Parts: sequence; C-alpha cells; structure tokens
Amino acid sequence: MGSCVVVELHRNVLIWSKVIDEIVRIERKIFPKHESLARSFDEELNKRNNGLLYSDVDGDVAGYVMYSWPSSLCASITKLAVKEGYRRQGHGEALLEEAIKKCRARSVHRISLHVDPSRTPAVTLYMKFGFRIDDLIEGYYSPDRNAYRMYLDFDGNQQNGV
Ligand SMILES: CC(C)(COP(=O)(O)OP(=O)(O)OC[C@H]1O[C@@H](n2cnc3c(N)ncnc32)[C@H](O)[C@@H]1OP(=O)(O)O)[C@@H](O)C(=O)NCCC(=O)NCCS
Repeated sequence: MGSCVVVELHRNVLIWSKVIDEIVRIERKIFPKHESLARSFDEELNKRNNGLLYSDVDGDVAGYVMYSWPSSLCASITKLAVKEGYRRQGHGEALLEEAIKKCRARSVHRISLHVDPSRTPAVTLYMKFGFRIDDLIEGYYSPDRNAYRMYLDFDGNQQNGV
C-alpha cells in the first residue's frame, strides 16, 4: 500500500479545506448526483456525532469514510470510497476497519449502512467484515435504484476482525 496512513479529519486543522476539496472531487466522480454528498459535506461534518477518516498516501487523499453515531446504541457508515487508481490495495479495508473501531469505541451495539446492490466490491467488503443483509429497500436512491440495508451487530466478545 506504500506509505499510507488513515487520518481523522478535525475541523481545526489547516489542511481541512484542501482535504474536503479533494473529497468533493472524488465524490463527484464516483457517485451520481442523488447519491453524492458533494454539496453537503461541510454541513454534514458540522453536525454533532459525525466523523470522517481519510487515507493519506504521501499527501494525496486515496479514499475516505464517513460515519455517524446518532444514538448511543447505533452507528452508521454513511460513505466509503476509494479513488480508482488506489483500488485493490487495501485502502477500503483499512478505512472500514478504522471506522468500525471508532464506532465501537462509542459502545454502540450495531452499525448499519445502505449500499446499492450493484456495487459488488462494496457489498463484498462489508460482508468480509461480517455485515449481513437485512432488507432490500426499493427506490432508496432513486426510483430505479435500490439499496441493501446491512448491519453488523456486536455482542460482548465479538470482534469481527477488528
Ligand atoms: C468499495 C471500495 C471502497 C473498495 O475499496 P478498495 O480499496 O478497492 O478495497 P480493498 O482493496 O481494501 O479490498 C478489500 C476487500 O473488498 C472486497 N473487494 C474490493 N474490490 C473488489 C472487487 N472489485 N470485486 C470483489 N470484491 C472486492 C474484497 O472482499 C476485498 O478483500 P480481498 O482483497 O481479501 O478479496 C471501492 O471499490 C470503491 O470506492 N467503490 C466505489 C464506491 C462505493 O461503491 N462505495 C460504497 C458505497 S457508499
């Protein structure tokens, strides 16, 4: 993976806008408009109980994951993406693992997410971490695009690879 490090983005850091600009560019490239957070990243991150981690490769943003913990019981992965040129090098796995750790540190019992079933790499990655498909929600993203709702539950000892 080269010299890669997963970093938590904090609002008070100098590189905040540089990182957000880069993430917005990636977001626009990868996701269709109705699924993109490009226009609302700043607003989303201003909300309490939201976190963003990104994968830094020698100053370049290789990918990012956004997560939130709306209650003390449940967290969610709201976005995960890796730039095309950095895929299949372990960035997605490293980001998801770190996001799960952050959520677990808040003692939640469940992490849930939504993903388009046609996004096979993402669905496979989530399953690798123990996420299960809970439901198929028709028209979730748009009238002709559905979503799997997936979840990962923790009991007292379960580690799910992290
Ligand atoms: C999903 C995504 C984040 C994976 O990132 P990545 O850095 O390429 O993934 P990794 O290299 O860490 O791979 C980890 C695991 O993911 C799964 N995976 C990744 N790419 C895959 C592919 N093309 N086909 C099948 N499984 C794949 C595998 O389980 C892999 O484990 P393995 O290497 O032991 O087989 C990336 O493909 C992506 O950004 N996709 C577009 C955005 C998206 O769909 N986001 C999710 C919805 S919000």
